[in-house]
Amino acid sequence: MDKYVINGGRPLNGEIHVSGMKNAAVPIILSSILVEGKVTIENVPDISDVRISLEILEAMGAIVNYIDKNTVEIDTTDINPELTPQHLVGKMRASYYLIGAELARFGRATVDCPGGCDFGSRPIDQHIKGFDALGADVVTVNGKHIDASTDPEKGLVGTSVYMDVVSVGATINIMIAAVKAKGTTIIENAAHEPHIVDTANFLNTCGARISGAGTDVIKIHGVDSLTGTTYAIIPDMIEAGTYMVLAAATEGKLKISNVIPKHLESISAKLVEMGAIIEEEDESVTVYRDAPLSNVSVKTLPYPGFPTDMNPQICVLSCLANGKSTITEGVWDSRFRYVEELKRMGASINVEKSTAEVTGVESLTPAKVRAVDLRAGAAMVIAALAADGKSEIEEIYHIERGYENIIEKLRLVGADITKVTEE
Ligand code: EPU
Repeated sequence: MDKYVINGGRPLNGEIHVSGMKNAAVPIILSSILVEGKVTIENVPDISDVRISLEILEAMGAIVNYIDKNTVEIDTTDINPELTPQHLVGKMRASYYLIGAELARFGRATVDCPGGCDFGSRPIDQHIKGFDALGADVVTVNGKHIDASTDPEKGLVGTSVYMDVVSVGATINIMIAAVKAKGTTIIENAAHEPHIVDTANFLNTCGARISGAGTDVIKIHGVDSLTGTTYAIIPDMIEAGTYMVLAAATEGKLKISNVIPKHLESISAKLVEMGAIIEEEDESVTVYRDAPLSNVSVKTLPYPGFPTDMNPQICVLSCLANGKSTITEGVWDSRFRYVEELKRMGASINVEKSTAEVTGVESLTPAKVRAVDLRAGAAMVIAALAADGKSEIEEIYHIERGYENIIEKLRLVGADITKVTEE
């Protein structure tokens, strides 16, 4: 089991370059299944969810070539959906995009139920509702496999789908499935996240006809085929937000570069409310503070609200703020499993239903803690870097699913962090 050993308690100063966005990279890579030809994808983060996505495609017969660490060429011309490697599908939540992509290209998909972080119940009923509306027959076998098929004569046919809940994954998945459907598909009450826009932009540069991505209503005019392209993935707003919080937590000054400041507005607003100073340039934000942190009230919401994937990180910061803060989770049933870990570091947090009430403490104390999921793990890294002394974080494979080169990036700004491999 690998772990991070962190000697914290020093301000971090310097520049951190943000990588491409995990939650855009995975659907873009998996939707290359729709393209008969070679796509070249740039700004691809080197993280385990991306490596799993590429391994899935290779196992299906795709040709995958790395041009450099962050640029990959994919040719799915000869892939076979019967070869979908179910043991890899179960490792990653976002493998549900295989259903939309395989349905679009082959008219059928058989995929194991996806894995991923545990936030309580994580249904995919809205994805299935969309595939059904497009004319697919979707059945779940023994609660383990999803079998989706279409009538070979008809294939998928454009339609209107109203999403009962705002879902990032369902919006992207239905959009992917509809790209080659006959006629026009309209997705209403669509999610607005920047990664939805990025996936639509990628598909459009391959010849798809998607409009409205980033708004409530997305229209997809079906096309017969997609052709290869070169496309660069947008920067990861959650990675950026994590390092923004880190600057404020360690009383350092970090320039976070390769970002789209517009995507960071809700995070910047809360950090400013807490007393951070943020200097915004075209492609960077510099974060520091010259006063104690103030308490805050945060509710996580779909974009452009404050992101649920920043819930644990902002909670760490509110532990270091004066007075009582509240963090209310508005997206997932259960996102507070990390609270028990933070309490080991001296945090004072009381969770009632979907709200955590946090009473600020003088400082966090070093401890041995676990990364209970990806963003919870990132929050433990922030807490350990802020706490004066030696902390250990276990189960770091969660963190490495989504943060490229985290050790190297943190060392460059003065962190004392080491990865230790234990039997
Ligand atoms: N939901 C349904 N039915 C569905 C789909 C979703 O009820 O068919 C509910 C969920 O239970 C949840 C809410 O809708 O309460 C939102 O879920 P959403 O579908 O938006 O989540 P997701 O697409 O599965 C993505 C990210 C998550 C991020 C959420 C919310 C990927 C691979 N994952 O998940 O990212 O938390 O959107 O922004 O894109 C992470 O990166 O750490 C991560 C967990």
